[in-house]
Amino acid sequence: MKQPGQQTVNKGETYQIEITDMTHDGEGVGRVDDFAVFVPEALPGDVVLARVISVKKTYARALIEKILTKSNQRITPVCQKAEWCGGCQLAHMDYKHQLAWKQRYVEEALNRLGKIETKVLPIIGMENPEGYRNKSQFPVGFADSKLVMGFFQKRSHQIVDTDHCRIQHPLINKAFQSVKQVLRDLRVEPYNEINHSGVIRHVVIRVSFCNHALMIVFVTRTDDFPHRDELITCLTKELPEPASVYQNINSKVTNVIFGSESRLLWGERYIVDRIGDLQFAISPRSFFQINPIQTKVLYDLVKGAAALTGTETVWDLYCGIGTIGLYLAADAKQIIGVESVEEAVADARFNAALNGIEHARFIAGKAEDVAPKLLQEGLQPDLVVVDPPRKGCDPDLLATIKAVEVPKVIYVSCNPATLARDLRILTEYGYQVKMVQPVDLFPDTSHVETVVLMSRAKD
Ligand SMILES: C[S@@+](CC[C@H](N)C(=O)[O-])C[C@H]1O[C@@H](n2cnc3c(N)ncnc32)[C@H](O)[C@@H]1O
Repeated sequence: MKQPGQQTVNKGETYQIEITDMTHDGEGVGRVDDFAVFVPEALPGDVVLARVISVKKTYARALIEKILTKSNQRITPVCQKAEWCGGCQLAHMDYKHQLAWKQRYVEEALNRLGKIETKVLPIIGMENPEGYRNKSQFPVGFADSKLVMGFFQKRSHQIVDTDHCRIQHPLINKAFQSVKQVLRDLRVEPYNEINHSGVIRHVVIRVSFCNHALMIVFVTRTDDFPHRDELITCLTKELPEPASVYQNINSKVTNVIFGSESRLLWGERYIVDRIGDLQFAISPRSFFQINPIQTKVLYDLVKGAAALTGTETVWDLYCGIGTIGLYLAADAKQIIGVESVEEAVADARFNAALNGIEHARFIAGKAEDVAPKLLQEGLQPDLVVVDPPRKGCDPDLLATIKAVEVPKVIYVSCNPATLARDLRILTEYGYQVKMVQPVDLFPDTSHVETVVLMSRAKD
């Protein structure tokens, strides 16, 4: 007799599946004879016919062939390419239910993985959840006898040739169309991933929400950039004012977009955007939150949780271009930012000067390596803010936080699973979770940002 959870499905066969849940990647989850089946684009409440494409030990994956009963969470995506494009995992789910799902995702991660029983404040969503992105990275290739540029198709490296993306700022869409047309007109050779030939691999476009300046980065396989000058002449004629045009060279066989060398071809070194009262200069490879409207909400939450009085030393770890530290600077005695990307540290220093902030210092290096050195220098923090990438904090850094006995930690996270793992460690180190606030920075996708305030339990 089959045990619950034991494999009962076969690859290539079609099953009727009632979807009851969703994975953290936004795939529907149903069961066939108690065996878990993940179904991309299926929503809780759907009943689907789905064909199994792979079977693992504890779960299978199946693709929808027909929706027999539609979930009440299902909408017709506004984007006509949503069915193919891999950019938005939740374009077929109405926004109210997206928010409810993200809320539950954070709650369950903290509960199950973090073993933390705490109230999670209601997620802060967007009033108008479109046109919010200030940056996009478009792969370039060749298909149907022409250059194509857009987004990778779901589960593939085929490029969906796109003309418009509803979550991008309108100027990114405009610039994208102009760039694609100019590349086609000049017959610039697109990259061929299969034999690692051709020139243009990606076009990365950034926009400043505050002054509409554009940064366009051509990522090339080769150092040589044929048609470069004509390209710039045509582009600068076509677009309102591209503030800066860069070439970035990436000659490796890799899925990583940027190479290490960026060359300014035209215009300004940076584009400048604004969050609240502060201005931030951003260079091509530096991290800057992709949704400036919700970033203000996020940073205001951090500021509120920090409740600084002007006497504190603040460590801003994983500081990017210095945004959070500089946002807190007016209320602190000193800010020390640590960031591993040198270019971002240069931006952070520039940003401190741009905003007339003299009591912020930025150090290039890994947070886990630099933090113990700060202690040796006697720079004991009163508040530590961490905002790590998806993989979360390095365990050595958490151990330093424990050793420092810092009274307050604010954790800004873009991944509830690693957040929960790290919070569990910090609670074992004597910290208590005081506030958990999810914020939706990424409507139509399965991502969610969370701010957590922790304080050290008194012995
Ligand atoms: C999620 S971003 C946050 C940036 C910034 N706090 C913000 O709000 O824009 C994470 C940053 O951590 C940096 N980073 C990654 N690993 C690091 C490490 N081990 N030590 C320091 N910085 C790191 C990345 O380059 C990136 O800029």
